[in-house]
Amino acid sequence: MDTFTPATPTTSTSTTATPTTATPTTATPGPGSAGAGYIHGYSEREAVRLGDQANALADLLHAGTHYPAGSGVLEIGCGVGAQTVHLVRRSPEARLMAVDRSAESLAAARARVAEHAPGALVEWRQADLFDLPFAEGEFDHVFVCFVLEHLSDPIAGLERLRRVLRPGGSLTVIEGDHGSAFFHPDSALARAAIDCQARLQRAAGGDALLGRRLLPLLRGAGFERPNVRPCTVWADRNRPELMTGFTRDTFIPAIASVRAEALAAGLASAEDWDRGIVELRRTAVGEGSFHYTFFKAVAHRPA
Ligand SMILES: C[S@@+](CC[C@H](N)C(=O)[O-])C[C@H]1O[C@@H](n2cnc3c(N)ncnc32)[C@H](O)[C@@H]1O
Repeated sequence: MDTFTPATPTTSTSTTATPTTATPTTATPGPGSAGAGYIHGYSEREAVRLGDQANALADLLHAGTHYPAGSGVLEIGCGVGAQTVHLVRRSPEARLMAVDRSAESLAAARARVAEHAPGALVEWRQADLFDLPFAEGEFDHVFVCFVLEHLSDPIAGLERLRRVLRPGGSLTVIEGDHGSAFFHPDSALARAAIDCQARLQRAAGGDALLGRRLLPLLRGAGFERPNVRPCTVWADRNRPELMTGFTRDTFIPAIASVRAEALAAGLASAEDWDRGIVELRRTAVGEGSFHYTFFKAVAHRPA
């Protein structure tokens, strides 16, 4: 699109992201944003978790996502670049604009892409989804992963994304749904811990069960031909890479990380919480198993 700024290799100077301060800084949250109190936070541990998650799930989540040479692609909420690396590997000749409201995450993303996909065509921009500094119809495609679940008004967020897509352009959205988690050995305390995380996310304005709502959300935001498909993770001893990469290193740490908030909110006693996490960890060893479904949708701006 003519107003899309040509991408510069990730190793060169960024146009707008200048993120090297020690304290996380964020663009001012917009009206439908769940606020700067983003439930997973911006810690080093969370950055590692996002990277593990993206790597463990890359084949599952990125299958079928390829952007043609020269097309302008916006990745919104790129975080520490965990998905960005996979986007540029699969579409090395597309021109990617990676945006996040956190300057610190953008800095980590630039470093990650420089290390894992040197020379990739990525431009970085610090901005809020609700106040995007792009012209109407500027992008051919938009990609958004694990962001809508943190917005208090995901339809308003999707409308902002529709605006920056050219007519006929595509939006790809990937979200989880904690209601799809079941496992062996079953444990009421483990299920309660997962529920605590979902309740905290709801209290922060988000929705950990958003995956199942993608189709009506996309229709409500004016997208055409929304197509949602499940991307199911089944991890047992026959899939040891998922048992470790997903259950042990991605899902359980996301739940365990909200211990302090869950206890402070009175959602669990320390004893029950700790027991729930121990029992959750049993699903990632030996005869344990874990099921989780992500939802991936593709929809289009009306032509
Ligand atoms: C769970 S992380 C996902 C990061 C990345 N998409 C991934 O899958 O690894 C959510 C990211 O969305 C960003 N985010 C949340 N609300 C945002 C908003 N209103 N505008 C821009 N970025 C936002 C956060 O800063 C965070 O980096």
